[in-house]
Amino acid sequence: MEERIPRRRLLDKFVKFAAALTTAILSVPPLVMLVVPAFRREQTPWLRVGPISDFRPNEPKAVTLTYQRRDGWVIRTVRTTVYVVVMGEGKVKVLSNICTHANCAVRWEKSKQAFFCPCHDGYFAIDGSVKSGPPTRPLDEFLHKVEGGFLFVRLG
Ligand code: FES
Repeated sequence: MEERIPRRRLLDKFVKFAAALTTAILSVPPLVMLVVPAFRREQTPWLRVGPISDFRPNEPKAVTLTYQRRDGWVIRTVRTTVYVVVMGEGKVKVLSNICTHANCAVRWEKSKQAFFCPCHDGYFAIDGSVKSGPPTRPLDEFLHKVEGGFLFVRLG
């Protein structure tokens, strides 16, 4: 014997299904707008470091930069120290002060003409390349530009 669903019940189920589907479809854009910014990380802006004339050739100079960074819904104030190195022939490098071995802070040792990491006696040359010790890769380098006599850097 064949069981038949009454037309009214069938129509009722269809209307409920259509309502649920419409609700699901309409709720996607607001959810995307709510959730996506939480995972978005803005690119850092160009930061003005200072007049390029403040930096002397072969004398790395530490500069601490402060800026606001948005990570999703959170806006954080970030302080970062970089080393500005003017190489021969005016070539500029902006190096991270973070050792690539285990993230300790390095400092410029004028007497040794090298960046020194006190954690495990790591040494980096003036161009950031590894001189000795456990680090296996050079100091990170940041994108930079010189415009109107001023040095700008983009961190990360
Ligand atoms: S953290 Fe710099 S040498 Fe280990």
